[in-house]
Amino acid sequence: MNQFSKTLLITGGAGFIGSHVVRLFVTKYPEYKIVNLDKLTYAGNLENLRDIENAPNYKFIKGDIVDADFIQDLFAVYQFDGVIHLAAESHVDRSISNPIEFVMTNVVGTVNLLNAAKHNWKDNKEKRFYHISTDEVYGTLGNEGLFTENTPYDPHSPYSASKASSDHFVRAYHDTFGINTVISNCSNNYGPNHFPEKLIPLAINNILNKKPIPIYGKGENVRDWLYVIDHARAIDVVFHNGKSGETYNIGGHNEWKNIDLIRLLCKIMDKKLNRAEGESEKLITFVTDRAGHDLRYAIDASKIEKELGWKPSVTFEKGLEQTVDWYLNNKEWLQNVTSGNYQKYYEQQYHNR
Ligand code: NAD
Ligand code: TYD
Repeated sequence: MNQFSKTLLITGGAGFIGSHVVRLFVTKYPEYKIVNLDKLTYAGNLENLRDIENAPNYKFIKGDIVDADFIQDLFAVYQFDGVIHLAAESHVDRSISNPIEFVMTNVVGTVNLLNAAKHNWKDNKEKRFYHISTDEVYGTLGNEGLFTENTPYDPHSPYSASKASSDHFVRAYHDTFGINTVISNCSNNYGPNHFPEKLIPLAINNILNKKPIPIYGKGENVRDWLYVIDHARAIDVVFHNGKSGETYNIGGHNEWKNIDLIRLLCKIMDKKLNRAEGESEKLITFVTDRAGHDLRYAIDASKIEKELGWKPSVTFEKGLEQTVDWYLNNKEWLQNVTSGNYQKYYEQQYHNR
């Protein structure tokens, strides 16, 4: 007999946000079996989950959500009670240079998972498909206003277009086939395990190595930053208490112009690294702007706060300091992810099991 009350599939669990979600679910819900499915692209690292890899309620499976037969087989074997879908290509700059990968994983991969859920769950409304998405589907704001759940979709980058498309497919499977779905659209995350191609970890890595910090355009673009562990807490709440067919915006009430954020980060790092005040700021280098660069993102998170009682718990000052500390204490991780060494780690640890 199955000793677990639920078996959940978490996709993309070896990535940045997924690793925090997997850890939260494995430790908070020992009665659930958590299956982490991840292709281990450049962005996925099992090192992110080393502390829980031997937990009795955890299983890692290497696989590609684009492979429809594999996904159907996986659902047949595990009879999942729920899916929390985070697997994605997630970097805007990469989507500009290689959009097709984003269509494959973010759109086709999501539809493969929806098809497997439809096929295996039939009319079972207890089983839930939770799709993790981004505020970038709403396009860009001017200097005023906030994205609400009713803001019309207006994606500009191939990344946000692919996420918008997958959101529409999730809603279509709810409306057409009656699948119990929820979607959340979150603002920019930061924290441990973030691959050093996104602004904050890239800047930390470059400051550490005294390399130029590239700032696109004039650095006037605004992002609303949320500590990744607060996002994982929100995902827990939405998965368990969100209403089927609904969307929830998640955000940090924490808007920063890129240039102001990087100046703050430079100050923090000068102190931590015992460098003279102002030394790291000299690394700031203004470079050609990103094509189609959205000016401002900012989230109205009042729905999730009112209906589900979630709000951010970590202040930006504390979260940023914890993040810097984590990178300074995990220089080997930084070194390995930038050199691709975790692929080798995976081969050694998992292929022989
Ligand atoms: P990430 O790039 O760090 O991780 C993505 C994970 O998905 C990796 O482990 C990768 O190996 C895996 N993956 C990629 N393609 C796959 C495939 N074809 N099959 C199976 N696994 C595959 O991304 P992240 O920043 O953790 O984002 C996770 C999710 O949250 C994404 O859906 C993203 O759109 C969304 N999101 C991210 C942010 C953010 O600020 N990072 C904000 C809002 C929403
Ligand atoms: P990023 O971390 O790529 O997240 P997103 O594009 O999904 O918001 O970028 C955050 C902001 O920082 C965005 O306005 C682009 C800018 N940026 C830079 O100025 N320099 C960089 O090297 C990177 C990666 C981003």
